[in-house]
Amino acid sequence: MHRVALTAPDDYDGWRDAARRLAMAGVDPADTLWQVGDAPGDLFADDPLPAARRDGAFSVPRAFVDLAQKAILHRDPERFALLYALLIRVRARPAAMEDKAAPLLRRIDMLAKGVRRDIHKMHAFVRFREVAEGDATRFVAWFEPDHHIVRATAGFFVRRFTTMRWSILTPEACIHWDGETITEGPGATRADAPGDDPVEALWTGYYAAIFNPARLKTGAMMSEMPKKYWKNLPEAALIPALIAGAQQREAAMIATAPMAEKPARHGNAQVAWAALREEARVCTRCPLHGPATQTVFGEGPIDAALVFVGEQPGDQEDLAGRPFVGPAGQLFDAALAEAGVERARAYVTNAVKHFKYEQRGKRRIHQTPTAGEVQACRWWLGQELAIIRPRIIVALGASAARAVLGRAVTIGQVRGAAMPLEDGAEAWVTVHPSFLLRLPDPARQAEEQARFVADLLMVGERLKALA
Ligand code: URA
Repeated sequence: MHRVALTAPDDYDGWRDAARRLAMAGVDPADTLWQVGDAPGDLFADDPLPAARRDGAFSVPRAFVDLAQKAILHRDPERFALLYALLIRVRARPAAMEDKAAPLLRRIDMLAKGVRRDIHKMHAFVRFREVAEGDATRFVAWFEPDHHIVRATAGFFVRRFTTMRWSILTPEACIHWDGETITEGPGATRADAPGDDPVEALWTGYYAAIFNPARLKTGAMMSEMPKKYWKNLPEAALIPALIAGAQQREAAMIATAPMAEKPARHGNAQVAWAALREEARVCTRCPLHGPATQTVFGEGPIDAALVFVGEQPGDQEDLAGRPFVGPAGQLFDAALAEAGVERARAYVTNAVKHFKYEQRGKRRIHQTPTAGEVQACRWWLGQELAIIRPRIIVALGASAARAVLGRAVTIGQVRGAAMPLEDGAEAWVTVHPSFLLRLPDPARQAEEQARFVADLLMVGERLKALA
């Protein structure tokens, strides 16, 4: 039996080195025993492999490495052995990574998925409390992850809160950032973390402002913000009261019918929007954040009755950090002016907040976002709309329509008519200005442009009728 002692539960490097040597020596997965911590000796305490057989290397597909780096963070004690068994298979046949139905790969996929979900929750639900530390301030958060993700998430918090001094305390390990270096300490208890403080005002304001009773689904809230996290979240204190008041407010909204006055706006809407934009700045919900220069968030009055949703920022928007400022934006502005709709009074945003492109030489060529990318980014749009609560939302093009309606539509079939949304607003769908720019035939372009202006005119008229 080959016993491998790893230095920590998330010791991917230790696992990789050991697994590589065992595989080179042809050790059967059934003859390995993986453990963390107090096993005697070093990584190969009981390892009888001759030194010569420990040398060398072999390569595995990138997909295996990505999967293993996530799955190894799972709490399941079998993860090391499972990964080693998969490594042996993949080494013999790299295409084994494609056998998505194979039970071993499926099981490891599930582990990785659980870890990714846990990381996502930690990104979203860590809340800092401010504590005095001598003359300075430190922000301290308490969090209870399900898996061994604390080290893996440290980089995210460093990037996001680079200028703050902070500590994240968890039962397994604590991480501390002093503005320059990150250090790690032993686990802590809930009692080691501070209680409430003023930093929370921002968050409580944010959650109260986005809490729209017509959208209340306690089941959905539970799955988005599981109860086990509530005890560490300042906004959790608001939730029972918000739910209690929701039915009453919802009844009032129904009584006033879809097109009646908007409910009174929450005074903290501006704070909520600013907090949301800050959050979006560091969004990593999908891989598009990687190559993009920055998040391009929506802009315009946050009490706008009219919201335009585009597809995603283009090359110029990505550099400028503002939506619709490039060629499509210029065409859009001209069409709005022709239709008598003031852009300055509308809120303009995109379904996807990062520029997706393909680099060809020096040029960055626009690529249409996938349904998955639209879905990943849809959360931000939902939050923007929950704060703004517009009367009319105009989707420019198919990706925007998918984001606004939550399903794919054919523009030709839904164009020119209002579609009621659950919360009383109405959606309109028209073409994207870039579609007009791409039309090669000038006569066709003029015709389509006139149709676009006519759509905007209709929206303008509808808005006046609702006022
Ligand atoms: N196209 C869009 O959909 N949005 C922009 O912001 C720019 C171009």
